[in-house]
Amino acid sequence: MIPHIRKQPLPVGITFIVVLAATLHQSLTDEATATTAIPPTSAAPATPASPGNPERGNYNVTNGNGTACLMARMGLQLNVTFLSTDKKTVQELVNLHPNQTKFAGSCDADTATLILMEDKTNLTFSFLLNTTSKKYHLSSLALSASWPDMAAPLSASNSGLDYLRGTLGRSYMCREEQTLSVDQNFSLNTYQLQVQPFGVSSDQFGEAEECELDEDDMLIPIIVGAALSGLVLIVLMAYLIGRKRSHAGYQTI
Ligand SMILES: *[C@@H]1O[C@H](CO)[C@@H](O)[C@H](O)[C@H]1NC(C)=O
Ligand SMILES: *[C@@H]1O[C@H](CO)[C@@H](O)[C@H](O)[C@H]1NC(C)=O
Ligand SMILES: *[C@@H]1O[C@H](CO)[C@@H](O)[C@H](O)[C@H]1NC(C)=O
Ligand SMILES: *[C@@H]1O[C@H](CO)[C@@H](O)[C@H](O)[C@H]1NC(C)=O
Ligand SMILES: *[C@@H]1O[C@H](CO)[C@@H](O)[C@H](O)[C@H]1NC(C)=O
Ligand SMILES: *[C@@H]1O[C@H](CO)[C@@H](O)[C@H](O)[C@H]1NC(C)=O
Ligand SMILES: *[C@@H]1O[C@H](CO)[C@@H](O)[C@H](O)[C@H]1NC(C)=O
Repeated sequence: MIPHIRKQPLPVGITFIVVLAATLHQSLTDEATATTAIPPTSAAPATPASPGNPERGNYNVTNGNGTACLMARMGLQLNVTFLSTDKKTVQELVNLHPNQTKFAGSCDADTATLILMEDKTNLTFSFLLNTTSKKYHLSSLALSASWPDMAAPLSASNSGLDYLRGTLGRSYMCREEQTLSVDQNFSLNTYQLQVQPFGVSSDQFGEAEECELDEDDMLIPIIVGAALSGLVLIVLMAYLIGRKRSHAGYQTI
């Protein structure tokens, strides 16, 4: 007459862990999406209405023979502070609309330029390639805008930037929202970005190098996975030890 009560804890324990894992994962991913979805609110100088995430556009610069030499795919949001016609300092978030954006650019051996033009907005990206180290980066951003509510046309630029660093022949990718500060009055928020300013072959992006923000994002599932495997091990060990104890108990009786 061997009592089988001891066998119970394992299936129950595993069911518990699976349910726990499912809910834990669900709540973690919910939390992650919830935190990224909340638009950052700002107090100064006037809280702008959020236009929502910008649509993603495709912008390819081609060289003389029609093959792409610079490729970019991204959603763009301008964060601009300016003096309005009624003499107030306002901060505005403005999305670029891909279907209303014209683009142009140029490609040279160690510089590449992308110019985006929407109605009353021009945005210029300049990339530099270091031919020795075979690394490129976004070195300059320039905005000129003459929006109806501006007291005077705005121009903001910075040619000492070091963003979107990648390797020749590869693309730079950042799925997460990224903020590229240009100056006191202008920063650019990028969404779902992939660019390759040099070494594009056959109109295709090269292998992607992901930004740190994306890598951090991938850490969460890894940590959860590791923690859960640890938990499973502990429960399994507890079960095995428990079973050994109970066997020993029967032998002494
Ligand atoms: C197009 O021109 C570039 C240089 O401007 C050259 O490297 C490339 O091989 C040319 N591609 C074709 C298909 O002719
Ligand atoms: C816009 O820029 C201001 C500072 O210039 C900053 O406080 C605010 O958080 C930015 N907003 C977004 C949505 O990037
Ligand atoms: C930012 O804009 C203000 C006016 O709104 C101007 O006085 C200031 O010089 C600008 N700063 C930069 C760095 O352009
Ligand atoms: C651009 O796309 C938006 C929505 O994606 C649409 O509402 C708008 O009419 C389009 N504009 C043009 C000029 O095609
Ligand atoms: C290019 O990279 C090399 C090696 O990293 C560095 O020594 C050199 O100063 C860089 N050149 C420029 C123009 O930045
Ligand atoms: C944008 O660039 C075009 C072509 O260079 C120019 O005609 C236009 O005035 C510019 N718009 C703004 C707002 O600077
Ligand atoms: C740019 O190139 C990509 C990949 O070849 C293509 O999917 C996209 O339609 C192109 N966009 C434009 C505007 O030509």
